[in-house]
Amino acid sequence: MIPVVDVDIKEREIEAVKDVVKSKFLIEGKNTKMFEEKFSNFTGAKFSTVTVNGTCALHLAMIALDIGPKDEVITTPFTFIASSNAILFSGAIPIFADIDKETYNIDPEKIEDKITDKTEAIMPVHIFGNPCDMKAIMDIAEDNNLIVLEDCAQGHGALIDNTHVGNFGQIGCFSFYGTKNLVGGEGGAVITNNEELFEKVKSLKNHGRSPAGGYAHYRIGYNYRSTDMTGAIMNVQMERADEILSKRHHNGNRYRKMLKEFDELVLQKIFPGHQHSDYIMAPIIQKEGVTQQQIIEYLKSKNVGSRTIYSILSYQQPCYKDLSNWHLSRVIDYPDYSKTTCPNAEFIAQNHFELPMVTSLTDESLDYVVSTLREFFDNH
Ligand SMILES: Cc1ncc(COP(=O)(O)O)c(C=O)c1O
Repeated sequence: MIPVVDVDIKEREIEAVKDVVKSKFLIEGKNTKMFEEKFSNFTGAKFSTVTVNGTCALHLAMIALDIGPKDEVITTPFTFIASSNAILFSGAIPIFADIDKETYNIDPEKIEDKITDKTEAIMPVHIFGNPCDMKAIMDIAEDNNLIVLEDCAQGHGALIDNTHVGNFGQIGCFSFYGTKNLVGGEGGAVITNNEELFEKVKSLKNHGRSPAGGYAHYRIGYNYRSTDMTGAIMNVQMERADEILSKRHHNGNRYRKMLKEFDELVLQKIFPGHQHSDYIMAPIIQKEGVTQQQIIEYLKSKNVGSRTIYSILSYQQPCYKDLSNWHLSRVIDYPDYSKTTCPNAEFIAQNHFELPMVTSLTDESLDYVVSTLREFFDNH
């Protein structure tokens, strides 16, 4: 089977982890620090700090930005549940704005429709690695005095006019979950260009300690620290970032060139000057009567891995439709998410399917994926 997930780990990562274990210094240490420096260089942000995962990075960002109880945060429903969950964790209220049908990202015009006097922030998500329209989003934020927190979990290597995503809003949050472009097993990072926010995030992730450590706690914090084994893997992944990302971009460009010949498919639109991270390739079906499941089953029968990703939107999740199990629903009035509708997001959710984009994919395998799709449409 040509896989949709295949983690690009080489001997170097294995050796780096072994060295950490042998050193017996397992907690955040020199490898983590080295990674943080490399990640700042990679993203061009002044400051980076590692977290245990991307969800915790988002949660820390919410708290550091002082977004809290009953504040409204406008975000997309077409994303992994962690985006809006981080909003809930802080006591804030996720407000879902519809996406643009072409980019699959939050639509700036729809953001404007959702702004109220309770809106505190916007959380754009660069979905599948496609940079959002940050110019429009930042203009809206400025006009309405709103904070912007970028969810860049899928955006390693995603650029807008050569600026890495995560640098447009006040904070950018990344994930190094084991399927991402750059992996750490689990792992996350917060980037910012604001030193005060950086110090706050570092303290919050370490139980509210000061940089000197010790057992005085100056704010209520969390333990969202990572380990030096994770740091060691991510450190090597950073050194290999050019190699990994250029292979992904090669795959992305080859798919885009070949699939644009298909009348039956539409590809995610990328704005001029935007560099997609090529994390996920997920075309949309535009042929009457053809379903996601039909394509996925056909591809699988021909040994090509495929799947849907967010076919259940965040507001459609059982835990959002009925929030009674969420402890803060005792004190916060949430919208009735079962009544939320975002027609474009619902369309994309029901009509996308993922194709293999992994670095182990050869040109021959990629061409086979494309010819298998051709065969499918010729018979449907
Ligand atoms: C868009 C998005 N946001 C947030 C997260 C959360 O990251 P993590 O799984 O590292 O907690 C993920 C990832 O898995 C994601 O894809």
